[in-house]
Amino acid sequence: MELYRCEICGDPYLGEEKPKNCPFCGAHERYLVTQNDFIDSTGVVQDLTETSKENLEAALKLEVGNAEFYVCASRKAETDEMKNLFKALSKVESEHASVLCKALGTKKPPISTDYDECSTKDIDNLKESHIREDRAIHKYAKFLSEATEPRVIEIFSAIIAVESDHLSLSEERM
Ligand SMILES: [Fe+2]
Ligand SMILES: [Fe+2]
Repeated sequence: MELYRCEICGDPYLGEEKPKNCPFCGAHERYLVTQNDFIDSTGVVQDLTETSKENLEAALKLEVGNAEFYVCASRKAETDEMKNLFKALSKVESEHASVLCKALGTKKPPISTDYDECSTKDIDNLKESHIREDRAIHKYAKFLSEATEPRVIEIFSAIIAVESDHLSLSEERM
C-alpha cells in the first residue's frame, strides 16, 4: 500500500497502485506522486497578476455554478446511474473550486443545493453538461494563455484536461 498525493488538489490517496486520475479533482496520472516526491504548491499563489486574479475568480464562479448544476441534475435524475454520474461530477467541480480558492487565498463559497434550474430529463441535463464543460474549456484556454505564474499555468492545464474528459461522459450518453 502506498500513499499518493495529487499535485493539483493536494489530496491524499491510499492504494496499491497510482490511479489514472485523482479520485478527488480528476487530475491526470502525471500529477499524482508518492508522498516522498510530493512538493506542496497547492497554497496561495504569491504576486498574482491582476489578470490572473480576475481569471481565477471567474473560474471559481464557473466551477461553483457547474457544481450546483450537477447537484440539481443528480437530485432530479431519472436513473440511479445518472444520479451517481451527476453526483460524481458535482464533487469534481467542487474540488476544482477548492483548488482555485487555495490559489487565491479565499474562503470557499458554499455549493448551494437551492439551484433548481436544471431539467427533469437526464438527456437535457447531459446536453447542458456538454455546453457547460465546453464553455469552461474555452474560457480556461484563454485564461491559460494569459497566465504567467507557473502554478496558475499548471492549474488551468490540469483542469482543462479534466473538463475535456467530462465532455466524453455526456457524448457517450446522448
Ligand atoms: Fe487531485
Ligand atoms: Fe471543473
